[in-house]
Amino acid sequence: MRLRPATPDDVPALLAFWKTAAEDTNRVGDDAAAVTALIARDPEALLLAVEGDEIVGSLIAGFDGWRCHLYRFAVHPDRRRRGIGKVLLEAAEQRFHDFGGRRADAMVLDDNTLAHHAWTAGGYAAQPQWRRWVKDL
Ligand SMILES: CC(C)(COP(=O)(O)OP(=O)(O)OC[C@H]1O[C@@H](n2cnc3c(N)ncnc32)[C@H](O)[C@@H]1OP(=O)(O)O)[C@@H](O)C(=O)NCCC(=O)NCCS
Repeated sequence: MRLRPATPDDVPALLAFWKTAAEDTNRVGDDAAAVTALIARDPEALLLAVEGDEIVGSLIAGFDGWRCHLYRFAVHPDRRRRGIGKVLLEAAEQRFHDFGGRRADAMVLDDNTLAHHAWTAGGYAAQPQWRRWVKDL
């Protein structure tokens, strides 16, 4: 397994991977244009774990100049509990560290206990005093 940034050529396989591996409850849907635009805007943000040509993990480490946001944390169901998620998180945190980021955050569903295990193991904790406020554009 190795890590590398996603390229535009990865987009179709990545969208298929997310259908299998990612959490999709109550989200704005992913599409090729949006993922391609992310890669164009920040070519190092979308981290992939790959085995040969196969995508087995993903994590978006988005830095907007102010905050460090983590999105699309996913590992293929057949490859979980092998440390791939941990390696992705460590790479994302190194990227944030290199930018001078001071705190990373992630949006995690309250009932996604599988994710809670992994985030907790990575040192993340819920901040119950905050709620996410959104508006569709
Ligand atoms: C969350 C996810 C990415 C973790 O990936 P992973 O590669 O399995 O994670 P790791 O193997 O690196 O696990 C790291 C640590 O997290 C904890 N952990 C992960 N999954 C766990 C589980 N099912 N039960 C208990 N602890 C777990 C363990 O402490 C583990 O270390 P250990 O295996 O040495 O005990 C994966 O479960 C996944 O894709 N889930 C579905 C998508 C999702 O919900 N993503 C999060 C959105 S917020």
